[in-house]
Amino acid sequence: MTTILHGNIIHAPSFGTLETIPDGYLILEDGVLRALSPVLPAQYASCPVTDYGDGLILPSFADLHLHAPQYPMLGMGMDLPLMEWLSAYTFRTEARFADPEYARRICRQLARDLITSGTTRVAMFSSCHTAATLILMEELEKAGVTGYVGKVNMDRSSGPVQEDTVRSVAETLRWLDGCQDFHLVSPIITPRFVPSCTNELLAGLGTLARERGLPVQSHLSESAGEVELVAQLHPDCARYWEIYNKYGLWKERTLMAHCVLSDPREQEAMAEAGVWAVHCAASNVNLCSGTAGVRALLNRGVHVALGSDIAGGDQLAMNRVIVDSIRASKLRQMETGEPFLTMPEAYYLGSSAGHIYFGGGAGFQTGCKLHAVVVNDARLPEPARELNLAERFERAVYLMDRTDIRAVYSEGVNRL
Ligand code: GUN
Ligand code: FE
Repeated sequence: MTTILHGNIIHAPSFGTLETIPDGYLILEDGVLRALSPVLPAQYASCPVTDYGDGLILPSFADLHLHAPQYPMLGMGMDLPLMEWLSAYTFRTEARFADPEYARRICRQLARDLITSGTTRVAMFSSCHTAATLILMEELEKAGVTGYVGKVNMDRSSGPVQEDTVRSVAETLRWLDGCQDFHLVSPIITPRFVPSCTNELLAGLGTLARERGLPVQSHLSESAGEVELVAQLHPDCARYWEIYNKYGLWKERTLMAHCVLSDPREQEAMAEAGVWAVHCAASNVNLCSGTAGVRALLNRGVHVALGSDIAGGDQLAMNRVIVDSIRASKLRQMETGEPFLTMPEAYYLGSSAGHIYFGGGAGFQTGCKLHAVVVNDARLPEPARELNLAERFERAVYLMDRTDIRAVYSEGVNRL
């Protein structure tokens, strides 16, 4: 089936560039983008057009790090550092996912809020609960959100959500058995982070990731307290990343959230192994962790994407996450001289980079299923002069909220 969308097309086909096609057309066949065109090609003249008029059509957002069971504690405990915040708020909140009905309510709301905010691809942490994790995957699929979901593993220092080591692996196997019939979401092995996992558990998960060919996500070098604890727990490993490496979890496409305190050697190890850094600027400021060296990571050839890190981060909407990452990078420039992220760069990280991680293209690439958001910026303050499309785009990323979003295409289908 042919679908044609008309509107002002804006995308980031490469890092730091923005391409605009005023009054352009996207031609889809069965949800797959076949052409971008400044005019309607003659062979489609008789096809119906979905006309978004003066609206902005952009590639959708991708959130490569967030915690579903923390959605109910958005904006809470933000005056605590990471390790205290985890024990005072996070583990207790996650424990509520033992109740499947509660988990379904939260997951349904989160999945819907992701779509209505324009996020169509995610890499998400669930809780340690198998049933709740399968419920989360069901609700994401129903809403049209695609990507990876992980049942969290933690068998040390994790309060009410601490698992027994053998059971943690057994439940992971049971969860993987339950993942067979999903189409839009698939499993990712998820050791919470080194302080929450015994060596035995890390080894079991590394083996599972290798045997089943599964990707891995975790946290790395986020805060000073955490890094000190990791050094005490693993005197045999000189650096944090070496522990993940030792247990087979440090590999191509492994997602590591934060990397705030990663030194040049850790950054190089990421680039060498093909490990991705997921930058979560709001969370890093909220928990006083620091500002991550995103520019240095990129310059060393590390793949970087953005994450909301709900609920260390307080904003689910990825346009806010993009703005937060620009702002954090400006603070970092003032401290270190490292050049800040421009809007086209940060938008690339919050959109194109995540799509590439999942095998899609940078910007609107032909041959890929469409992931797009349509924004109506008419509600925003009347500008003092006529704006070009790049200016309208920048303003929309800073100012829009979900009420300004008219359509959200995920895997070629409008899910709004
Ligand atoms: N490190 C281990 N668990 C967490 C978490 O839930 N949030 C953040 N920000 N860091 C973590
Ligand atoms: Fe996190």
